[in-house]
Amino acid sequence: MSMTDPQLLLTERVQQALGTAFGPEYAEEDPLIRSSQFADYQANIALSLAKRLRRAPRDVAQDLLGALDQTGITAEVSGPGFINITLSDEWIAEQAERLLQDERLGVPKVTPQTVVIDYSAPNAAKEMHVGHLRTTIVGDTLARTHEHLGNRVIRQNHLGDWGTPFGMLIEHLLDVGEEEALRRLAAGEGNAFYQEARKKFDTDPEFEERSRRRVPLLQGGDPESLRLWGEFIEYTKRYFNKVYAMLGVTLTDEHIAGESMYNPMLADVCDELEKAGIAKISDGALCVFPPGFTGRDGAPLPLIIRKRDGGYGYATTDLAAIRYRIRDLKADRILYVVGATQSLHFQMVFATARMAGWLTDDIRAEHVQIGSVLGSDGKMFRTRSGESVKLTDLLNEAIVRADAVIADRGYEPEVREQIARKVGMGAVKYADLSVSHDSEYVFDFDRMLALTGNTGPYLQYATARIRSIFRTGSIDPGSVTGPIRLGHPTERALALQLLKFGSVVQAVADLSEPHRLCGYLFELAQAFTAFYENCPVLKAEDEEVRRSRLALSALTLRILLQGLDLLGIDVPERM
Ligand code: ARG
Repeated sequence: MSMTDPQLLLTERVQQALGTAFGPEYAEEDPLIRSSQFADYQANIALSLAKRLRRAPRDVAQDLLGALDQTGITAEVSGPGFINITLSDEWIAEQAERLLQDERLGVPKVTPQTVVIDYSAPNAAKEMHVGHLRTTIVGDTLARTHEHLGNRVIRQNHLGDWGTPFGMLIEHLLDVGEEEALRRLAAGEGNAFYQEARKKFDTDPEFEERSRRRVPLLQGGDPESLRLWGEFIEYTKRYFNKVYAMLGVTLTDEHIAGESMYNPMLADVCDELEKAGIAKISDGALCVFPPGFTGRDGAPLPLIIRKRDGGYGYATTDLAAIRYRIRDLKADRILYVVGATQSLHFQMVFATARMAGWLTDDIRAEHVQIGSVLGSDGKMFRTRSGESVKLTDLLNEAIVRADAVIADRGYEPEVREQIARKVGMGAVKYADLSVSHDSEYVFDFDRMLALTGNTGPYLQYATARIRSIFRTGSIDPGSVTGPIRLGHPTERALALQLLKFGSVVQAVADLSEPHRLCGYLFELAQAFTAFYENCPVLKAEDEEVRRSRLALSALTLRILLQGLDLLGIDVPERM
């Protein structure tokens, strides 16, 4: 099915008119269709075209109008040369009916691309903090959205599971006792565990010495060191999986492609870059100096790929990863959903991969920058005692608080527990998704759990309310067929909003911006509320009107459910 979004259809039509009126060379021009205060849309192209044609803008607009196919629309020249376009009610209704027949709700199937999405990526050696929660949630929505559009998605969880801290962690594990240490890791105490080890490392020379000796053992493949490391990772992963399960995130063990996976490739990556003359020894370290990157003093900035002591670091691993993703996974597009603070790192990694000829012009590598999550004090989010927060505690608190929000509704305990779970997780996820991914936001339970405003619970509530209309009428929303007739202005506004779903979903994938879908769904829920306040559905005055309103309600319900599903948000049956 072709796109139902009027903006796209109008774009096509005005382009046709441009070709007819001014010649084929103008038929690809962007007609600059925008929402308008005075009509549904306006086309602004005549103004800029007039300059190039050296003609009066209003005349250009008049000619364009003359060539425009006006079936289903009315158009007029206004102001200095805008074309105001109003869609006919019949046309909108007809498109909405097409949508009703369409199981994809206007979302296109794209020509499949292989999209590698690097997200979540907590550090086994340190902690999973709220920042990782956000990369997890945003990445998961992008993965779901690309999959829904028909792309081949390869999830890559680039776990921090390798490197020098493991010397220290293994020694601490032996000191604490293996069993006790592993129990604590699985319980999500990895952060405290790391801090204890760090403290000993800084204050106890004997421990420091042991830890340092452990690193070459581990990296040299000593079986006992590798076994202990493997246990350490295994138990930490159990905790990460607990967090993923609570959130309903689609990541599983098969998506783990941690730093350790690239260990066998690092020497070869360095070799390849050195042989190609891209990497050079500088101060004893092997470095790449991608052009255009300079430090404060104006000196070229190095990307260090092999340290003086022969060790490899984060950058080497990322170079191995990008080469692997292009050569082996055959990526057309790679998304790195990672904290904004790593922007320079990724720019330099991409630049190096371009120099090496791995990253070619037909492949897109993008850093989807994730902004920090702040506490109410405007600083990095912490617990009251100043430690970083254990994620399962945070998520459990969301559930407890969600339970308080629905406490007075008289549900049976099990039902109530399920609702609280969905509302709590929905609130946390939506809070992450509804602000643009690169901006910071303040983590605030009260705001994210509010039942009004642009929140997860508001959308869940709006959806549950539409379900209850169908329940009350004993009608299956899947059986509703229309036809759709638009009488009241709120019916028209609702239908128009429904038509835009497909292009919003596509924009989310194209631009990696989930907040667009949140904004869209929020407006849809508001349009429905306005409609519902003005237009009785089950008690509509005549049968034809009732059928039409049921069709609009069913479409709204389906789009809300589909949209929330792309955001990874479950909707309770009742709320
Ligand atoms: N583990 C890293 C961190 O917590 C994120 C890794 C992101 N992915 C990557 N390919 N570097 O900061």
